[in-house]
Amino acid sequence: MRHLMNPLDFTTKELEKLFDLANDIERNPAKYAHACEGKKLATCFYEPSTRTRLSFESAMLSLGGQVLGFADASNSSAAKGESVSDTIRIISCYADICAMRHPKEGAPMVAASKSSIPVINAGDGGHQHPTQTLTDLLTIRSLKGRLNSFTIGLCGDLKFGRTVHSLINALVRYENIRFIFISPEELKVPDYIIEMLKEKGISYEEVIRLEDCMPQLDLLYMTRVQKERFFNEEDYVRLKDFYILNKAKMEPAKKDMLVLHPLPRVNEISVEVDDDPRAAYFKQVQYGVYVRMALILTLLEIQV
Ligand code: NCD
Repeated sequence: MRHLMNPLDFTTKELEKLFDLANDIERNPAKYAHACEGKKLATCFYEPSTRTRLSFESAMLSLGGQVLGFADASNSSAAKGESVSDTIRIISCYADICAMRHPKEGAPMVAASKSSIPVINAGDGGHQHPTQTLTDLLTIRSLKGRLNSFTIGLCGDLKFGRTVHSLINALVRYENIRFIFISPEELKVPDYIIEMLKEKGISYEEVIRLEDCMPQLDLLYMTRVQKERFFNEEDYVRLKDFYILNKAKMEPAKKDMLVLHPLPRVNEISVEVDDDPRAAYFKQVQYGVYVRMALILTLLEIQV
């Protein structure tokens, strides 16, 4: 039985297969409409979410399966002190697969070790967010036709943003990727990631101003300042509007650059950018459903 804790749990070959399946689902949704009949997905969310939880549920419903779960830990037995290990043992009796989001790094992994059904890490604290990474990679591959030879700018909260940590982890396996990290001093990418890039000899640069690198970028990955992970409100207020991508800032960018964002957006992308053909963040949401459909089928070993 397989779980998904980290994007690296799949080899690049396995990812290609998963993305081919997601693209086939995109082209022929009717073919997959009954694939998960009689199967149940449990969504156990101990932390707020709109997109990730609903996109898992939408994915399972589009496969003809059913969903159950909780979106608020204060309404679950966690509020009575139940451990994730016990919760997953219970959920294993109710469902065939589980997507779990938890504020504690590693909690879904603890659950997986006690589970008799596949567990998907739907985000664990500031650590990893593998299904967002699968979504990001599928979006890039579908819209650009490749996953290698890019200069990618990651902008915003690179310290606390788990989507950023997961994406960097996944992209280093492709050839000729160059990273430009755009963040204020206080929100720089963690040292362990920089060490990993140095070890692998992967090219990266750290800058503070978006304007300093815009013309070089093939992909711009914007992120929200992660309010919930700050220790004090003052720092958050000072940093929250550090970057605001607007029409004027898009001007010097390449004509085929893609703007990605895991969403939710706060102020970091002005709504005037939404109509720019390079804005891909709403398409990304749709790819998130296809890739989760492909993932559910793969982990449940269902062939269509
Ligand atoms: C992200 C997350 O939860 O880490 N959201 C998402 O799942 N699409 C990004 C964020 O909350 O900023």
